[in-house]
Amino acid sequence: MKIVYVAMSADIIHPGHLNIIEQASKYGEVYVGILTDSAIASYKRLPYLNYEQRSLIVGSLKKVVEVIPQETLDYRPNLRKLKPDYVVHGDDWKEGVQRETRQQVIDCLKEWGGELIEIPYTQGISSSQLNSAVRELGTTPDIRRATLRRLINAKPIVRICEAHNGLTGLIIEHTKVETDNKIKEFDGMWASSLTDSTVRGKPDIEAVDISSRLININDLLEVTTKPIVFDGDTGGKQEHFIYTVRTLERLGVSAVIIEDKIGLKMNSLFGTDVVQEQDDIEHFCEKIKAGKRAQITDDFMIIARIESLILKAGMDDAITRAKAYIEAGCDAIMIHSKEKTPDEILAFCKLTNEFEKKVPIVVVPSTYDTVYENELAEAGVNIVIYANQLLRSAYPSMVDTAKTILQHGRAFEARDKLMSIKEIITLIPERV
Ligand code: SPV
Ligand code: MG
Repeated sequence: MKIVYVAMSADIIHPGHLNIIEQASKYGEVYVGILTDSAIASYKRLPYLNYEQRSLIVGSLKKVVEVIPQETLDYRPNLRKLKPDYVVHGDDWKEGVQRETRQQVIDCLKEWGGELIEIPYTQGISSSQLNSAVRELGTTPDIRRATLRRLINAKPIVRICEAHNGLTGLIIEHTKVETDNKIKEFDGMWASSLTDSTVRGKPDIEAVDISSRLININDLLEVTTKPIVFDGDTGGKQEHFIYTVRTLERLGVSAVIIEDKIGLKMNSLFGTDVVQEQDDIEHFCEKIKAGKRAQITDDFMIIARIESLILKAGMDDAITRAKAYIEAGCDAIMIHSKEKTPDEILAFCKLTNEFEKKVPIVVVPSTYDTVYENELAEAGVNIVIYANQLLRSAYPSMVDTAKTILQHGRAFEARDKLMSIKEIITLIPERV
């Protein structure tokens, strides 16, 4: 019997997949390479079903002899292992993101005289169509909550952006760019205390209470499906924090980040210009432990944020605290800095990479914004948060428009800078 190799994500099985497998079985025994979560996440959105679920489904199809993991978008490692006589694929990959992969398959098969068979693409149905249909239906708190851990496991770095209302949530949900044959988008949302306070015209001092902050969370939950990380400030009193954990977890938020400060919290980007007190290690560890005891699922994450570099307490203090917070059971560490360069963050990562007990690392490059995501990923960072950029871009433009209207006594001069009336009235489609 000849060996036939077919690779697929198989997130939402549809007649197109069955047709490929059916056609492939005419050439020999069908081995299906199921793309792992990381292979998929390397070029598009994380699949709805995880690798185990997807391989179980495909493995139970009648014409499939065996399912094997395909760890990269690149077929070659599996092809060289299996040396198939044929690779079967739909003819829809000649252009676009998969063009390069196709050429690699053709060249690799030549090494042992294998052949690529391309069969006509099944018209009228595609994973992307089904994907948007599923996205329309939304998600559940359980699925959304668990997605952050899946992303951390599947991606070199998870990319999160601040969302301070439903509209910014939609921007993060839908904005995509195509570069290097990959579709890039944000993986999730940051409910920032700074932007949640600023949009309410209040300073970032925990004056906006949790109930008000949850209004934004609820707006995000209603119109998006991506995971949410909540900025929990100091977490407040331990006795109160446990309720925050329960509430966020129940809603489907994936993580809360609490910072090791006490007293009147001010925004970290003030640094030492204002008086801010760091919590003592033991007290903060108790808060982490209480939060961990309060949560119900294994998915929810409590992330400990270290302010030692912000408050100039030094790298040794940051490292001592990281070890203690990990020991206390935090699920990740956020290390913050307000330096212009990423040097101290990279130095911190280097030291934590040597830890025996490691957890994911989260960073917020607001001041050291020249650093690239791949530099952070290489240093061992797992999550990057763009914590305030959407609001910072909206505000100057709104002030400018307000001034233009005042200066001219009419709105005409501002028109060119605005989206059209047609665009604004159709931006949010009606749901029927
Ligand atoms: C926030 O976005 O509110 C943060 C990050 O906590 S920072 O503003 O840098 O403190
Ligand atoms: Mg904050």
